[in-house]
Amino acid sequence: MAALDAVSIITTKRDGGELSDTQIDWVVDAFTKGEVADEQMSALAMAIVWRGMTRRETARWTAAMIASGSRMDFTDLPRPTVDKHSTGGVGDKITLPLAPLVAACGAAVPQLSGRGLGHTGGTLDKLESIPGWRADVPVARMREILTDPAIGAVVCAAGADLAPADKRLYALRDVTGTVESIPLIASSIMSKKIAEGTAALVLDVKVGAGAFMKSLADARELATAMVELGTDSGVRTVALLTSMDTPLGRTAGNALEVAESVEVLAGGGPADIVELTLALAREMVALAGLDVDPAEVLADGRAMDQWRAMIAAQGGDPDAPLPAAKHTETVRAQRAGVLTRLDAMGIGLAAWRLGAGRARQDDPVQFGAGVEMHAKPGDSVTAGQPLLTLHTDTPEAFAGALAAASAAFDIGAAEEKPATALILDRVAR
Ligand code: URA
Repeated sequence: MAALDAVSIITTKRDGGELSDTQIDWVVDAFTKGEVADEQMSALAMAIVWRGMTRRETARWTAAMIASGSRMDFTDLPRPTVDKHSTGGVGDKITLPLAPLVAACGAAVPQLSGRGLGHTGGTLDKLESIPGWRADVPVARMREILTDPAIGAVVCAAGADLAPADKRLYALRDVTGTVESIPLIASSIMSKKIAEGTAALVLDVKVGAGAFMKSLADARELATAMVELGTDSGVRTVALLTSMDTPLGRTAGNALEVAESVEVLAGGGPADIVELTLALAREMVALAGLDVDPAEVLADGRAMDQWRAMIAAQGGDPDAPLPAAKHTETVRAQRAGVLTRLDAMGIGLAAWRLGAGRARQDDPVQFGAGVEMHAKPGDSVTAGQPLLTLHTDTPEAFAGALAAASAAFDIGAAEEKPATALILDRVAR
């Protein structure tokens, strides 16, 4: 057996070897205790980026991440638990209408979420734009909320004890160029979701310009790895691969996205948000073993009632006006034609520069900041028509945001209409 020291583990992986279960358990545990230095774990992460991990190594790495903290248990709840995780995209506010919709269908939805970093927004930042709403919910209160059929969904911050090794490792990966590794991403996401205690999980794996995974083949590989990790750990897991070339819906930014989500719950909202919300809801409801049509539950207002109860349960006032930015700027079409491209990365960057996102984990966000999109790819536009409205409290942010936003779209001829399929594939075992 290889000696249990960090250097030999790093060199084994650097040279293309396979790590034993004992080596993985030891290195993750020693890192959690601070006995393996950050620079050693960073070197190991870089070796994994280059050399990869086998399915067995990835499963063991995930188990070690889970074992670094505590695992929640909701098996005694009277309703089946099911959650959704998205790998992150621009304008991805799907959790907001989806969690209350699935709860209204009869499931319990325990969702531990994160704050945004970089160009993609975080669900907690969006919900925190609702006056009074709080992300910190003690476990005992989570159980009460999940048990109450009138609420049934809780979206809250993960406690410090949920996969703490992943929290430390992710912070290192973020600053050492080691995020882009399928086994590391899969184990990072799945360790938190398995530790969260959900019995079933639907993954929304994003593909395209605004996503981690730029190609369908990479997204399928990531989805397959996560579905295997979930299933092997007893969590019924299915993944949809969905397009993230263009932002979801017509808004990117915290309060702007809450307002759009409420439109969906009220029976309106953009077609792509409704389509993806219903597709994910159908998968979740099926995994939970419920025979309910989410489209009916959305249409008859039960999902909206559940949203109001869910927001109130975490201190929020669902009727309070949402924060609005102090300043706006309009970007107009320079000529008539068809919008052939609206790039998720460019719009995400513009929203971030306007103040909707953060550069460091502790930075504040502006709740009213962001980008409103008045046209989506495939729409005809006239010369001078407003295409985007930029919102911020800090007008000095406009120059940088305008540079990103203006480079994010193209107007072409009618025959160049882009393909706009949203749901690209499904991965299950
Ligand atoms: N999200 C995570 O939680 N972990 C990753 O590694 C990437 C995205």
